[in-house]
Amino acid sequence: MLDKKTLEKFNQEHLVEFEKLMSTNEKEQLSEKIDTLNLAEIEKLYNDLYVNKKMIDDVSSVNEVKYDVKASLSDEDIEKYESIGLDAIRQGKFAVLLMAGGQGTRLGYKGPKGSFEIEDVSLFEIQAKQLLALKEQTGQFVDWYIMTSKINDKETQLFFESKNYFGYDKEHVHFFIQDNIVALSEEGKLVLDTDGNILETPNGNGGVFKSLEKAGYLKEMTDSGVSYVFLNNIDNVLVKVLDPLFAGYTYHNDMDVTTKSIQPKHGESVGRLVNTNHKDTVLEYSELEPEIANEFNNANIGVHSFKLSFINDVVDNALPYHLAIKKLKQLDDDFGVIEQPTLKFELFYFDIFQYAHSFTTLQVPREEEFSPLKNKEGKDSVETATADLKRMKMI
Ligand code: UTP
Repeated sequence: MLDKKTLEKFNQEHLVEFEKLMSTNEKEQLSEKIDTLNLAEIEKLYNDLYVNKKMIDDVSSVNEVKYDVKASLSDEDIEKYESIGLDAIRQGKFAVLLMAGGQGTRLGYKGPKGSFEIEDVSLFEIQAKQLLALKEQTGQFVDWYIMTSKINDKETQLFFESKNYFGYDKEHVHFFIQDNIVALSEEGKLVLDTDGNILETPNGNGGVFKSLEKAGYLKEMTDSGVSYVFLNNIDNVLVKVLDPLFAGYTYHNDMDVTTKSIQPKHGESVGRLVNTNHKDTVLEYSELEPEIANEFNNANIGVHSFKLSFINDVVDNALPYHLAIKKLKQLDDDFGVIEQPTLKFELFYFDIFQYAHSFTTLQVPREEEFSPLKNKEGKDSVETATADLKRMKMI
């Protein structure tokens, strides 16, 4: 039985009404789940991030980051970086980390986003092919760590098996699952998913470092002599996965965080890389006033290398939650299935930047390296991704 008094204290008494419609098993499950939740903390998240939401409007102490521009590098520099990168990869100094735990709500595709196919080529395959090509070039299978979430882990692994790992060596592909966190209605209420359980969602891509540690993979990387972890998203169809130039740029500069960026378009809804309090950081577009976002030259495209020793040092440090409002399926008061805007709490991987002591950024050409697949139609959609892949002769 649910404890009505506690629920009332935290504005969750509606669960008692839900309970009345449930079978004994369901009631037990619900009550066990509620016991594991810290309702005070959930209420605080709701108040801090939704009720009292703040935009970042004081940019007096926010500056441009220090960055190089790929197009301005000399041929000698490019050759030098590529050669350093290939050597480092050959020596096993890099691991690749792919974040593929997202829900892909905007794309509205049922399976894991990485299994979405464009002209019969899935997003996973686009990335696997590049690692295979790197193996041809260096003789080295780079270890590929893939973060999934509870909603897509099984399907992701089955997809890889059904495609025979795209020809990559299975021993070098490692899956791990990120954590979940509860979602809330706009009134701050816990809601039920379509199976009648408390609705939870993946805890954002910032769950990546802790989940990597929990799975034992930080130790595995350290033991096998990895020095840098290359990180990327699943949905940038033009991503260059561990390209030797960037690997060499990373290795040569030896910073805690090395980032790729692109020149943002005016009003483009992409996070901006900025320097504040002597630290590089990413300000999410949704948390920035648009005029302020337009002042900065580097947009974050989710491609970075992290020094492994840096990740090891800070993996247990706290990261803040951010709020996203997404349309999610759930049960209404009468247990009918509805889809409505719901509050999702997300950790962002780039909040770890605050703990870094050294940074550098390489700005790369958008038309060669950035085309995100986010939406069904319009901007950053199947149509634009298909056109960009064709233009780059990747499909
Ligand atoms: P997005 O922030 O675009 O989210 O992810 P999404 O879930 O893929 O899509 P929408 O917003 O619901 O439409 C950027 C990257 O971070 C990963 C995604 O898989 C993608 O590679 N991600 C996001 C995770 O790995 N876990 C998360 O909890 C969220």
